[in-house]
Amino acid sequence: MAQDQQRINGFSKFSKEQRRQWLAEQFLEDGAAGTLAKFDFSDEEVQRVFDGFSENTVANFPLPYGVAPNFVVNGRTYVVPMVTEESSVVAAASAAAKYWMTRGGFKTEIVATEKLGQLHFRWSGSPERRSALLSELCTRVSAQTKELTARMESRGGGVRGITWKHLPEVADDCYQLLVKFGTADSMGANFINTVLEAYGQELRRWATTSPSLRESERDLEVIMAILSNHTPNCIVRAWVSCPIADMALPVNGVDPHDFARRFRYAVEIARQDPYRAVTHNKGIMNGIDAVVIATGNDFRAVEAAAHAFAAQDGTYRSLSRCRIEHDHFHFELSLPLALGTVGGLTKLHPLAKLSLDCLGQPSAPELMSVIAAAGLAQNFAAVRSLVTTGIQKGHMKMHLQNILTEFAATPKEREATVAHFADRTVSYAGVRTFLETVRT
Ligand code: MEV
Repeated sequence: MAQDQQRINGFSKFSKEQRRQWLAEQFLEDGAAGTLAKFDFSDEEVQRVFDGFSENTVANFPLPYGVAPNFVVNGRTYVVPMVTEESSVVAAASAAAKYWMTRGGFKTEIVATEKLGQLHFRWSGSPERRSALLSELCTRVSAQTKELTARMESRGGGVRGITWKHLPEVADDCYQLLVKFGTADSMGANFINTVLEAYGQELRRWATTSPSLRESERDLEVIMAILSNHTPNCIVRAWVSCPIADMALPVNGVDPHDFARRFRYAVEIARQDPYRAVTHNKGIMNGIDAVVIATGNDFRAVEAAAHAFAAQDGTYRSLSRCRIEHDHFHFELSLPLALGTVGGLTKLHPLAKLSLDCLGQPSAPELMSVIAAAGLAQNFAAVRSLVTTGIQKGHMKMHLQNILTEFAATPKEREATVAHFADRTVSYAGVRTFLETVRT
């Protein structure tokens, strides 16, 4: 058992087979090594690529890869690749995309594409001279690291500005360089971190060699240099809009004006109540993350930035807004999306590459637009269900296949169950009872 184990040394040096064997012997049951091995790719080349992504790998962990067609974004039709384990997500995005396809589609605007990096350091500079000296330092670091930024500059990116800040709330000698970057079509994490670390070295050189400094001002210690995943100036806005009279719904007996009123009301609740806002935004991220993952982007960075943005005025709020003006329905979403369509996994992961091909090899801003549209579509579909039929009807219909798998249903039993629940509410208990009846 786990608590009896000795520390293992050199695990990372084991072959994959040895790692599986060890894991199975120490923590799992007989046959577990074989189960893990089943998830290896038969194509050894592809498997080698995957093993290169991470460490101590013992298997691949597959997730369903689907596509949502009929996404019209800024007049262009996309098939949007989505990776998610949650049933209903792709179906809901597809339904919303198709609904808006005939109502003008999704429109987007790239508000800004600026990324940020921070360098924190301790410095013994005297308060009355720090303004002049740190301004000199900002000029010096950017001049000394030009060769690092030249290639990015030729692609339209580079360093956009450097400012310094005193952080007395941390300590009296604590300072920050805040660096603004453009990273063209890459997410830019490696570029930003490399530049910041070079700035750190330049800071140390400045402290020891600058003739402007007094001896008492040469005590400088770099604490850390890293990009910030808070990207409030890398924003995309997506919206849909149409006359309410055109908003016929595929739900019987729902008046479009009544629907629009209830929809706006529900979004307003999510603007004002953090408990609802978190769930509402989770629904948005169902769509966003699925495309972010499918395109090989960093979903943890996107999640962290989105939630920080949602709380930017001190209260956690919905990322989307809805308004009704002169019988016109307008629904929009704004969020930060720091994405890349070059670099990182985008070319290494064969399916990420395929996803980008599927989207017509978009630029990073174009990908921001498509992903924001997917988030808005997901949100529209969820809130539409919530204020009309309720969420469980559609969700449980999709989830039925998972329940049937859990009960090891045969193809015949599946068919009979799907037919039985065609006009009934699906529930776990209901499916179990039905299967018991069929089986006896
Ligand atoms: C479920 O994954 C997402 C929803 O809860 C989102 C929402 O409530 O708006 C349906």
